[in-house]
Amino acid sequence: MGIKKLVFSGVQPTGNLHLGNYLGALKNFVSLQKEMECIYCVVDLHAITVFQKPNELRNNVLETVAGFQASGLDPEKSIIFNQSSVPGHAELAWILNCIARIGWLNRMTQFKDKAGSDKEKASVGLYIYPNLMAADILLYKATHVPVGADQKQHLELSRDIAQKFNKDFNCKNFFPLPEPLIPKKVSRIMSLRDGTKKMSKSEDSDYSRINLKDSADEINKKIKKAKSDSEEIPDNLKNLEKKPEALNLINIYSEISKISLENVLNEMSGKEYSYLKTKLAELLVSEITPVGKEIKKLLGDKSHLEQILKKGKEKANIIAEENLKNIREIVGLI
Ligand code: TYM
Repeated sequence: MGIKKLVFSGVQPTGNLHLGNYLGALKNFVSLQKEMECIYCVVDLHAITVFQKPNELRNNVLETVAGFQASGLDPEKSIIFNQSSVPGHAELAWILNCIARIGWLNRMTQFKDKAGSDKEKASVGLYIYPNLMAADILLYKATHVPVGADQKQHLELSRDIAQKFNKDFNCKNFFPLPEPLIPKKVSRIMSLRDGTKKMSKSEDSDYSRINLKDSADEINKKIKKAKSDSEEIPDNLKNLEKKPEALNLINIYSEISKISLENVLNEMSGKEYSYLKTKLAELLVSEITPVGKEIKKLLGDKSHLEQILKKGKEKANIIAEENLKNIREIVGLI
């Protein structure tokens, strides 16, 4: 019997969803729901690995659900829920904490980045964050995981954990090895202020990112101020690749317009970046502002969003409990 295909992914409810989340993850989530069974989770337990104000966290969970729906996820097709509402995530994470090796976690670059220079002061949760992520995926025996490139290392760890579990307990193929689905062109949308850093919610300057809730005016201003290059637009990719900020803008333009990078360069080489910026801002306004407006509209009816979570939790819990029953038995827990 073949393994059943199942998609799982998660997004942290830590504030504004941005263009990186949208192009790197959400758009992929939406196209996958047409082909496969999909489970999309608002990972509130991951969010609290760094202190969150309780009221803000509650609002951010609902806002993330609104972002999912506004981007095109259909709660009738995909299971949408928040992580803490299905207790199996925390239970399996504990079991996997006992499978993963300290050496494996020590290699995680995201922990090094997030913990900063004073690692002693980081929460233990932040350190074992990737094990919880593995639990999210393996709890449902997911086979495909759409994510941006920044999550690739965590996905590899999930595969190592699944493999070790299957081997230690002599249950070959019990956990499928999850495949990352990383988009080619937009796997890493970069900051508008620094083309070597990824666009992120945590960067101080709001000018570094396009938020899904930004107004047309804000998008125009941010793109106008975005770092580009003092020379004109080159005619080949090799030269463009030496200029990370310019490459990032052209990549975003190429992705949203669905025009290949080569054709964008054919059209724009020799022109100044202001030409690209005007066209890019127009495109972004037409792609992003309807999503932002929909998020704001959906936030006006919180009980609708809570209802999505409630239904999703019930469906997710059935799959989780069924798998956990087998996992407990395999491990020897009565
Ligand atoms: P998070 O909340 O940081 O980001 C959500 C998704 O957006 C992608 N992303 C980006 N893609 C391209 N360019 C960017 N600048 C950019 N910034 C963010 C992320 O790669 C991600 O796909 N640990 C995860 C959440 C998680 C998860 C999981 C994901 C928890 N459990 C299980 C998959 C499977 C995270 O913090 O994503």
